[in-house]
Amino acid sequence: MMNNNKFKGRDFLTLLDYSTEEISYLLQLAKELKAKQKAGKTYQPLLGKVLGMIFEKSSTRTRVSFETGIYQLGGTGLFLSTNDIQLGRGETISDTAKVLSGYLDGIMIRTYHQSDIEELASHATIPIINGLSDDFHPCQVLADLQTIEEVKGTLAGLKLAFVGDGNNMANSLMIGAAKMGMNFSIASPKQYLPQASIVEKAKQIAQDTGSIIKVTTDPVEAVKEADVIYTDVWASMGQEVEQAKRLKEFANYQVNQQLLDHAKSDYIFMHCLPAHRGEEVTADIIDGDHSVVFQEAENRLHAQKALMVALMAD
Ligand code: CP
Ligand code: NVA
Repeated sequence: MMNNNKFKGRDFLTLLDYSTEEISYLLQLAKELKAKQKAGKTYQPLLGKVLGMIFEKSSTRTRVSFETGIYQLGGTGLFLSTNDIQLGRGETISDTAKVLSGYLDGIMIRTYHQSDIEELASHATIPIINGLSDDFHPCQVLADLQTIEEVKGTLAGLKLAFVGDGNNMANSLMIGAAKMGMNFSIASPKQYLPQASIVEKAKQIAQDTGSIIKVTTDPVEAVKEADVIYTDVWASMGQEVEQAKRLKEFANYQVNQQLLDHAKSDYIFMHCLPAHRGEEVTADIIDGDHSVVFQEAENRLHAQKALMVALMAD
């Protein structure tokens, strides 16, 4: 088993920075922490530690799972909305990073630009965790991988199909799948395919892990023989003005029973949530027998506890 010292003090900005072995370690730790929690055991390796949680966008899961997680580990979480802190009034990211590094033991940040998270990390002396940007959502993918492993017993060799917008979730899932040797297919309308540079990175990683990465505009082709079907909202946070336009453009990309007839009979359905029933997925699917969305949401807690222990524990 890997030594925890490999993680201490590191940032978690994207899964690109973590090896297959390191991701496996985090998943194993998440599993152990989940078992401890379920057994009612107290485990407080972060006693006295404080995590700052900067939010420039809304959140239910990320906010509550991080705050509950650090509390269970013996520490405290501070909710810092950019509506209330000086960062939202133009104080620089670098000054904010230096000031907060003097008080806190780690920062989780949810914002628009990935480059802002990188800038924060480059000026901070404490771990910075990406709680979602326009480009990536790596914490969600840790929980997703944990969930898939719990349900399917393995990751390598499975096929994950993402249907919908080539957004932050699609990017992070593609990287996560490539790292773990899962095959990944994405179907999006042409103008919403994931960025070519990220697809290229995933394909490079896949050369080492043996996974197959496919990009298509055909949802049937993507879901064919898939073990895991994933979708996300058609208009992400920050894209509200495009909602009506996107509803039309994504109309043929709804995850519904007709599409899922092409998946494996024992497929699981996943969604990072929040979901819009009747848009990206029909209610019968997200609320049906194959859906694991609430197990997935719960695992945010366990996966992020593992991450915080790895990055922040003494
Ligand atoms: N999946 C997810 O990150 O949810 P929140 O936006 O509620 O944090
Ligand atoms: N793609 C969505 C994910 C929300 C968790 C968004 O960015 O709004």
